[in-house]
Amino acid sequence: MPEVSGGRLVGREAELGRLLALLGEAAAGRPVVALVSGDAGVGKTRLVTELSVEARARGCAVLTGRCAELADTVPYLPLADALRDAAAGPLAGGPLLDALAARPVLSRLLPDVDGGQPPGRDVPGLAQQQLFGAALGMLTELAEASPVLLVLEDLHWADRSTRDLVTFLSRALHRERLAIVVTYRTDDMYRRHPLRPVVAELTRLPSVTTVALGPLNASAMAEHLTSLSGGLLDAATLDSLITRAEGNAYYAEELLAASASGSELPAGLADLLLARTEKLSPEAQQVLRAAAVTGRRVDDELARQASGLAGPEYDDAVREAVAHQLLVPDGERGYAFRHALLREAIYADLLPGERTRLHARLAELLADEGRLAEVPGTAAELAHHSLASHDIPGAFAASVAAGREAERLAAPAEAHRHYDLALSLWERVEDPEKLSGMGRGKLAFRSALTAADDGDIPRAVHQLRRLISFLGEGDSDDPVLFCRASERLAYFLLDIDEDAQAIAAAEAAVDALPEEPPRWERARALATHARALLSMEDEAPARSRAEQALAAARAASAPWVEADSLVTLGQLSEWAGRIEEAVGLFTRALQQARSAGVLGVELRAAFQLARMQLESGDLVAASRTAHEGVRRAEDAGVGLAPYGYDLQYVHYLAHYQAGEWEHAQVLADGFATRVTSAAEARLSAMALFLEVARDRPAVADRRTWLEPFFVTDHFTEYIGRGLLAEHALWHGDGETAVAQAEATIGASEAWDPGYRPGVIRPAAVGLCAVADQAWQARAAGDAERASAAAEKASRLVRIARQGAAYPQRPNFVLGVDGRGWLARAEAEWRRAQGDNDPAAWQAVVDAFGPGFVYETARSRYRLAEALAEAGRRDEAQQELLLAVEVADRIGARPLRSALSGLARRARLADRAAPGAAGRSSGQPGGAAAGRPLAGLTDREVEVLRLLAAGQSNREIGAELFIATKTASVHVSNILAKLGAASRTEAAAIAHAQGLGPSAQRNR
Ligand SMILES: Nc1ncnc2c1ncn2[C@@H]1O[C@H](COP(=O)(O)OP(=O)(O)O)[C@@H](O)[C@H]1O
Ligand SMILES: [Mg+2]
Repeated sequence: MPEVSGGRLVGREAELGRLLALLGEAAAGRPVVALVSGDAGVGKTRLVTELSVEARARGCAVLTGRCAELADTVPYLPLADALRDAAAGPLAGGPLLDALAARPVLSRLLPDVDGGQPPGRDVPGLAQQQLFGAALGMLTELAEASPVLLVLEDLHWADRSTRDLVTFLSRALHRERLAIVVTYRTDDMYRRHPLRPVVAELTRLPSVTTVALGPLNASAMAEHLTSLSGGLLDAATLDSLITRAEGNAYYAEELLAASASGSELPAGLADLLLARTEKLSPEAQQVLRAAAVTGRRVDDELARQASGLAGPEYDDAVREAVAHQLLVPDGERGYAFRHALLREAIYADLLPGERTRLHARLAELLADEGRLAEVPGTAAELAHHSLASHDIPGAFAASVAAGREAERLAAPAEAHRHYDLALSLWERVEDPEKLSGMGRGKLAFRSALTAADDGDIPRAVHQLRRLISFLGEGDSDDPVLFCRASERLAYFLLDIDEDAQAIAAAEAAVDALPEEPPRWERARALATHARALLSMEDEAPARSRAEQALAAARAASAPWVEADSLVTLGQLSEWAGRIEEAVGLFTRALQQARSAGVLGVELRAAFQLARMQLESGDLVAASRTAHEGVRRAEDAGVGLAPYGYDLQYVHYLAHYQAGEWEHAQVLADGFATRVTSAAEARLSAMALFLEVARDRPAVADRRTWLEPFFVTDHFTEYIGRGLLAEHALWHGDGETAVAQAEATIGASEAWDPGYRPGVIRPAAVGLCAVADQAWQARAAGDAERASAAAEKASRLVRIARQGAAYPQRPNFVLGVDGRGWLARAEAEWRRAQGDNDPAAWQAVVDAFGPGFVYETARSRYRLAEALAEAGRRDEAQQELLLAVEVADRIGARPLRSALSGLARRARLADRAAPGAAGRSSGQPGGAAAGRPLAGLTDREVEVLRLLAAGQSNREIGAELFIATKTASVHVSNILAKLGAASRTEAAAIAHAQGLGPSAQRNR
């Protein structure tokens, strides 16, 4: 019979070219993801195989994993597949084994490897994030040695955890030399297929490209068939094959194989495939049927036993199937169907009884203990076969085992699904406790926890509520479980801001157990109760609970609960204004959590400590604590988990505040712009601190991606809008600045009702804009507008003062940043009232103190201005130069140009160089301005600039710190020098000479 595969690749030059170009991109450090889609048999596998060959030739490391139809409940199958193949293949000697050895979470996916302890589960979802982080870390490490091509085939069959992993990787890629190519079948993608939303989401990412494979055209098909048949086809046959195959390479091959055997061709591919198998011996057919039920890659041993054939008979049968190209050898220990469609056709053709028997046989074989322990995913397959053979007790027991295994592999979605199935079968089996090794309550509890791990908090809450009422009925003979379920319920309720209900649930958890004997469950319930009570205005109950939790944790030797309670106590000390005590408690909590090895608490403690250090102005300690925390989080792969990303921004803010902007910039550049999750959005918003202060073009890009998150995440909105307000201010757009500042205050309130210290800064920014408006109105003699602005200023300063008073926490002491911004709000408010008081600005400079380098410089700018207005020129000059020095050093461009503007207006020097005093360099009068202005002094050019902007003498005077009368003298001189008959003519000359109003007003 003719060769039916392995012919030359035809008709895919364009697609292969695109994929190779993408590979080139990846190799250059611009990671890519390609989604290759098309009908079954159209040539997806063939295309990525060609790509892989070429990639290897170019020195890439290639990892390939496949999903399998029967195994969508096996967690991370394609990743496990890829790792297993690679670990056995040529990559093994290279960096792969090292990369794996450093990441036990991943090793657990491989057979026969003891991955050590399962990851800590003190924070929901942490385990899975660790696995994702480990996968990314491993690929990154491999990509340092050579570019990496990761191929994941047949994603339409993927399990939920794999889909999430692909999404995670696609988002997280940054500069790795990595190309990820996935394939999926479009003919299988029914409307509610779970891959659909994933594809939709992925294609929105800039790094993702789609490559849709359509039918091959007629000439490609002709070439394909001709080469396969060795040129033996006559034109008429060729024509009819091309027409029937509809551009599908695989269909064409099967048609060719069937036509070569000379019989009549059946209609439809499935019939065609079956007709071909019917030509085989009964034994070979039996092997194929057993293999079709086995599903994924056909394990030789399994297939032999399932077929019921004796050794030599079986070997002959397999040889026959291979000779007919129905099976192909695959790896060391098995076979695969040459195409999935063939397996599907054979499976669909099984008689119902036959199918059930085969599933039952496989279930029997898989139930082997050794196999269950060694080959990851076996329990899930066992559950599948048991269910398909209507073996309810078997399916029940296997589902529980599969749930456990999925938990161990950090695949909460699959774990939840298995536990849920087992729960639904509970009443249909005899002696379920014995089969599952646990009570119904415990099973429900695990099901709920895995739902939460998977991010489905509402489902976890729902399940826990049912469980609690189930336990509460009857005599509740399991108070420990009742306590744990209630405690977790409280914890999750806090997560979704159901504070009152959380308090009640935590209280029930505490009450469920007696004080003696000491138990960690009760200690933890106390700790969670204390956390829930933090939401109350009265701090006493929370403190007393936290202290009880501390004592109970010690008695029960539960150091992680102890650490957690210490964090809570630290927060209470902070609110009570006892800062040193708070720092001490956070420090102890951090040490304790670290030595107890509980990452979740450790990161919470590190964040609180670093934040506290930042607020109390100890920037060096803050950056050190946060840096260490970030390292720990990233090592564990949880850099974007709660507290992980919090530590990232505290680290960055510490450097930003200290004026170490080189370092801060590196960190900000690491915060993704094209954000797709709330955690990324929060970091990107944080990056704006620096990018607005440097007026970098990135601001616009970040804004575009951030705005959708303003709707869904108040914290992102609060940070983002607050900085966009400042951006508008630097660009002289006071209206926008006020609007954004007000929206920022709104976001802060929506996020946490009532005015908090967080509103001080946006209020001060709004005040700055309003003070400008008041000042301009006053200068223009518009008393009405001036008093409206002053009115608005009073409203804003009240908000700032109330935020500072923090009525919910009356003893709270503001941090350095808070005090600085409050002082600024007060100074701006005075300026808005027409009282630009140097003392008020000096207070701002003092409040920030020299450690807060940028804010101090920014305050000196206003101080210099106020001094100039007061006629204290020497002092103004001094402050201005201090600010200039900082602005130049750290690259604070908008501040720098505001300082130049001030220098120009007030006739001060804006650089320290000797002899430059009194002249502002370069600006006016120079070559660009041309002849007509050549006769003007620098001062007159300034006056003309303002005149051309339509300002009155009075406004000019105010702007330039001179009397209105002096301004009018300047104007007369200018008119004379220019030979202009009127202000309008003078303005026209100025415009003609390119002397418009400066781009930035920066008052
Ligand atoms: N462009 C092509 N040129 C030559 N043969 C092809 C081409 N595309 C697919 N084939 C062959 O057709 C068969 C089915 O292709 P495959 O890649 O397995 O399809 P898919 O993965 O899309 O289901 C294979 O034998 C393959 O070698
Ligand atoms: Mg394929």
